[in-house]
Amino acid sequence: MAVLPIRLAGDPVLRQKAKKVRDIDASIQQLIDDMIETMHDAPGVGLAANQVGVALRVIVIEVPEEDPDDPEAPLQRHQVVLINPQIVKRSGERRLDEGCLSVPGYKGEITRSVSVTVKGLDRDGKSVRIKAEDDLLAEVLEHEIDHLNGVLYIDYLESMDQLVKLEDEASDEDEAQAKDNASDEDNALANAAAAPSGAARGGS
Ligand code: NI
Repeated sequence: MAVLPIRLAGDPVLRQKAKKVRDIDASIQQLIDDMIETMHDAPGVGLAANQVGVALRVIVIEVPEEDPDDPEAPLQRHQVVLINPQIVKRSGERRLDEGCLSVPGYKGEITRSVSVTVKGLDRDGKSVRIKAEDDLLAEVLEHEIDHLNGVLYIDYLESMDQLVKLEDEASDEDEAQAKDNASDEDNALANAAAAPSGAARGGS
């Protein structure tokens, strides 16, 4: 396994429409292992193969997941590996703050679907169908499959002025807090509420 360099916006491989995988051979297994290690290292919640310079239809995702039987238990990690993924159904709209490992240091608010159904193959070549609704998984599935089609989330912004620099946001918060006479406890709560959520925090 190896951590691979992540390609950044401006690299032509991110604008290529990735090709279907025809044969899930040892090189694809190696690619998947390397993508998972690269995603963990970043760290991020998802990665598409063209983000590591390979224009093939492979995505890896890992999102925190609550145990439905015990919401108090520590979050589990839900890992998804999909080869030749296709969105077969999506519905609804929601506005989300999104980020991307290929556009580091920024986030932007875009519209995503509420409900997303995807089919594809797992790493053993078995057909799988995944339905995600109103959660981080639904967002990341759309984000990663966009990557395979050469689409970045910033393409959905009306202008690049709508990109928010994460450092700027932090310093604005610091400034706001300096002017704030609230108690330390209130400040801690404000910090927690202002932290970017989901893919914007993890990148994908
Ligand atoms: Ni991304």
